[in-house]
This record gives sequence, structure tokens and C-alpha cells, in this order.
Amino acid sequence: MKKASPFAVIILAAGKGSRMKSAKPKVMHEIAGLPILNWLISRVEGLNPEKIIVVTAPNMNDVIEAAAPHTCVIQKEQLGTGDAVKPAMAALKDFSGKVLVLLGDEPFVDIDILQNMLDTDGPSVMAIEPPSNKGLGRVITDKDFNLVEIVEQKDCDEEQKKITLSNAGNFCFEAKKLTEWLDALSNNNAQGEYYLTDVPKIAQANGVKTKVIKAKTSMIWGINTKSELADHEIFAQMMLRERAMSNGVTMIDPDSVTLSFDTQLDEDVTLEPNVFIGKGVIIAKNVTIHAFSYIEGTEIEEGAEIGPFARIRPKSHIGKKASIGNFIEVNRSIIEEGAKAKHVSYLGDTILGAKSNVGAGTVIANYDGFFKHQSQIGNNVFIGSNSTIISPVIIGDNAIIAAGSNVNKDIPG
Ligand code: UD1
Ligand code: MG
Repeated sequence: MKKASPFAVIILAAGKGSRMKSAKPKVMHEIAGLPILNWLISRVEGLNPEKIIVVTAPNMNDVIEAAAPHTCVIQKEQLGTGDAVKPAMAALKDFSGKVLVLLGDEPFVDIDILQNMLDTDGPSVMAIEPPSNKGLGRVITDKDFNLVEIVEQKDCDEEQKKITLSNAGNFCFEAKKLTEWLDALSNNNAQGEYYLTDVPKIAQANGVKTKVIKAKTSMIWGINTKSELADHEIFAQMMLRERAMSNGVTMIDPDSVTLSFDTQLDEDVTLEPNVFIGKGVIIAKNVTIHAFSYIEGTEIEEGAEIGPFARIRPKSHIGKKASIGNFIEVNRSIIEEGAKAKHVSYLGDTILGAKSNVGAGTVIANYDGFFKHQSQIGNNVFIGSNSTIISPVIIGDNAIIAAGSNVNKDIPG
């Protein structure tokens, strides 16, 4: 097999994202708990590029952290997508392969099409016909599907606005040529910006044609507004649920279930309607999460039962066949095998031993107004209803605590 030639990827992520109306850089907004930028990076890593370079703006340290271990370069002023490529090319000055230039606000770009672009001789651009092309550059081609020009919507006349073929925003160029052509860009347009979309015109003036490679999409393309972010969230959730169900998860009303990018669900997990799963959740076989439960940062072992209306907060662990019922909040706690808390309780900073039973209305009072404390409850302990366990205490195995107790001393087993 022919060895693939080395290529680099540049991701433009320095834009202000002003249409998001947010203090956060646009690419740091999350989809299913993962920043837009990281969805794109993880897709592009699948192509095995020699290098991924992310272009960001000054004071966007969170973008630099999110892009790590990939290199970030800084575009000092946001003068347009064409200008943004320049600092990246400076970092690639000794590189002589192809360069894919991608836009950081397009997390679900089709990597098979990117591969087609890499395999095409000469420069190429990805074009789409999305359900709405509001705000997109219009693509004008010749009869052989070579690019004639891309006209940004703001620069379009009324006739050009009717063109449905639109610029997806992704280009492939030879590195050495791109550097030359970028130097010839001007900002003589409606937005006073250096447009990446004008590079093919300069290429053409130098006798090089750009191929238009069409990609299918049923999505709104690119994330410029909160509404487009929500659109992408819907798509990501559909993708995550499909993956979970194909791995053997049962969902009664999939559309009402929210998953996270890293959710791990084993076979025969059942998720009832309106379950929310945040980051860092691992659920083993035969676990049922009843309706309206909210779970984050927790591992749940085989056969456990959660909810309805349970809230499991991060740094918790629910053991085999444990049972956490309605209106229970578990926070930074370990619930061991077969332990039960079935009705209206708060279990914070607690280790609840195997087969222990927590009665209705029990509160582990872990906070004294200044510090959080931990309590340890042994195996086979029975805590009667409406008890308050004032942490820190240790309750020994097999202890029986009468209903309505206030426990502020250790109880031997
Ligand atoms: C861009 C394209 C448009 C295309 C659309 C597809 C240009 C001029 N326009 O428009 O033809 O249809 O994407 O989604 O390329 N960025 C920088 N530095 C800058 C400006 C932008 O890094 O100075 C980054 C942004 O962070 C963003 C990306 O480039 O990730 C695209 O910028 P954006 O302003 O969203 O361009 P669009 O108006 O969507
Ligand atoms: Mg955009």
C-alpha cells in the first residue's frame, strides 16, 4: 500500500465569537460536556496528521489547555480567517506537505471528505448544501466543478444570495504555495477582513485551480450562535444514544435522555425517561436508572438501582446491587454492595457499608459551617427514619440506630 504523505492540520479558533454573546471563547462552549474544539480535534486525530496547529487569540489560555498536547499559535488581532492562517504557516515554515485548514466552529466535519481533499491533486475546498445557508459564503463553480469564487454573504448581490452551494469553510493547500498566496490577500470587502475564501482567487491568478469537493449534510453548518450550538447538541445526543443502544442499553424514551461525551454504559443498562447523565459516569451491566435521575462523576456497579428522582453527585461510587431510591442525594460517597437508602435522604462524605439500610429522612450532616467531615458507617447497620448523623462519626458493623436519633459520637459495632 502507498504510504500516505505527511500533512498538517490548522484549526482556526481565534475569532471573538461575538454572535454567541458570551465571555467564553466560542470553541470552548460544550457539546455533551466536551468543548466544540475537542470534538473537532478528536475527529481530525483519526486522520493521523503529522501536526495539528490551533490558532487562538491572546488571553485565551483555556483554548491552549483544551488543545494540548497540540501546538497553539496566537493571532494577535482578529483580522479575518485569511489572516488567522498566517501565524500557523509561520510555525510550519519547514513543512512541505499539504495543509488542511479547518474552522474551529465546525465540530462534526466529515473526515472521509477531508481524506478526499487530501487525495485530490492541487487545492480543494469543501462545499455543502445545508438546510439553511444563512451567513455562509456562496460557492460559484465552472462546468468542471472547479471553483470560480466564493462570495461571502455580506458581499453577495441579490442573485448570488440565491445560490445554494455554500462554503463549508475547509480548504486543502500545498503548504509552500499557501504561504505565498496568503501574502497577496487584501481586506477590500464588506467586513474589512482578510478572507481565507479569497485565497483560491489568488491561486487562480497564478494558474492554479481549486477543486470543489461536495459533502452531504443535513445539519445547520458551523456554530455561530447559541441556537446553532443547541442544534449541534441535539445531533450529538442522537449520536451518543444510538451508540449506547447499539451496545445493548435499553431506553424507553431516548429523546428525553441526556448523555455525556464520555458516558460508559454496559449491556442491559436501562435508562428510563428524563435521565440526565453528566461527565465521568460509568455504569455496569443490569443497572436501572429510573426516571428523572441526575448523575455525575460516579461509577455504578452491576445490578444497582437508582431513582426515580435521585441525584448522585461527583466522586461517588455505588456498589453492586445497592439501591438508591427517590429524593436521595449522594455526594462524594461510597455506597457498598447491597446497601440501601430508599427515601428522602442526604448522604454526603459518607462510606455506607455493605447491606446497611438508611431510613427515610436521614441526613448525614457533613458540614459544620466551616469544614466538611466524613462519616463511616459499617456493614449491616440499620439507621432508623429521620436520624441525623453529625459527621465525623464512625458507626460499627451491625449497629441499630433508633428512629429520630441525633448521632454525634462514634457507635461501636
Ligand atoms: C466562514 C467563511 C464562510 C463559510 C463559513 C462556514 C470566511 C471569510 N468565511 O464564515 O465562507 O461559509 O465559515 O462555517 O472564511 N477565526 C479566527 N480569526 C479571525 C476570524 C475567524 O481564528 O480573525 C476563526 C473563528 O474562531 C472560527 C472560524 O475562524 O472558528 C470561522 O470564523 P467565523 O467568524 O465563524 O466565520 P463565518 O462567518 O462562520
Ligand atoms: Mg462560523
